[in-house]
Amino acid sequence: MEQNIEKKKRIFSGMQPSGELTLGNYLGALKNWVGLQDDYECIYAIMNMHAITVRQDPAELRKRSMEVLMQYIACGVDPEKSVLFFQSHVPAHAELAWILSCNTQMGELSRMTQFKDKSQKHADNINAGLFTYPVLMAADILLYQADLVPVGNDQLQHIELTRDVANRFNFHYGETFTVPEPYIGKAGARVMSLQSPENKMSKSDPNPNGYIWILDSEDVIIKKFKRAVTDSDTEIRPGADKPGVTNLLTIYAAVTGKTVEEAAAEFAGQGYGTFKMAVGEAVAAELAPVRKRFEELSKDKAYVEEIYQKGAEIAGYLAAKTLRKVYKKVGFVAR
Ligand code: TYM
Repeated sequence: MEQNIEKKKRIFSGMQPSGELTLGNYLGALKNWVGLQDDYECIYAIMNMHAITVRQDPAELRKRSMEVLMQYIACGVDPEKSVLFFQSHVPAHAELAWILSCNTQMGELSRMTQFKDKSQKHADNINAGLFTYPVLMAADILLYQADLVPVGNDQLQHIELTRDVANRFNFHYGETFTVPEPYIGKAGARVMSLQSPENKMSKSDPNPNGYIWILDSEDVIIKKFKRAVTDSDTEIRPGADKPGVTNLLTIYAAVTGKTVEEAAAEFAGQGYGTFKMAVGEAVAAELAPVRKRFEELSKDKAYVEEIYQKGAEIAGYLAAKTLRKVYKKVGFVAR
């Protein structure tokens, strides 16, 4: 695997274990991760170091981190094809983050919308890590010389910053990092809340009816879609004036592989009730095997442990190689 992984183009991505994974995480990122595995060398991590930029219960964080790893696998990330590991198991992430933070401007970080949102939401804990969060994310990506980063729309600004930092470093110190491109799927790059479709579907939503957890049962999924907010009109079409209906059409398109226009044509003339039921059923059918596989994995701790240990070994090897190069470039004395 170590030799193999150095031939094809490289992908890096990850998720924070800061809550339950939602249909937004699945359609915006995970489903694409799975589809890219055959054509790229993929490295997917659980970003537990990013998660502590907001307060976490330690026992919960540990448990959720394991569950996120199992959800990656349950969704179809194949440990035989992709490298899977916990961010905290590879110390090079923190080490490169320091060097990159000396090459990132305060002004650049102040412009990050995620920082602005999160510092509003967590006004009692606006810590330095929340501010430098995108530098750690740049380190995650640049350590593996990733060509592509499959993410949802909300991460584009962070990837743009990663590209700026990589270009700047390469300019000052000579060619060091691959400058990565974002990879955004055709549909599902921004899944909205089922209850307030002007907001992103989020694992930190206090209203569980707003999001679908990827491990929700079939009944719960269908119930949540039945309750989904639409509008007082009856027409099933996408449009800025119809955020709820547009979101449901986007979800249906992302799940079935159709375009939003095809989805709209399929439901033309039907009532909202039938439409919401059909979307709910499609999502429930997509997620049923995920839940089953997750349950099986939960009973096989040894298998899961083997995966993340082997993953940390390979990731650590690749990361150390980049870090050595960087240390040399910046003028640190060799050990
Ligand atoms: P996170 O944990 O918030 O989300 C994980 C992935 O899910 C996508 N996503 C969505 N896509 C569509 N609709 C939604 N409603 C939705 N909600 C979430 C996100 O875009 C993301 O792709 N900073 C990252 C984690 C990270 C990372 C990295 C990602 C840390 N280092 C390096 C890529 C590469 C984050 O907070 O994602």
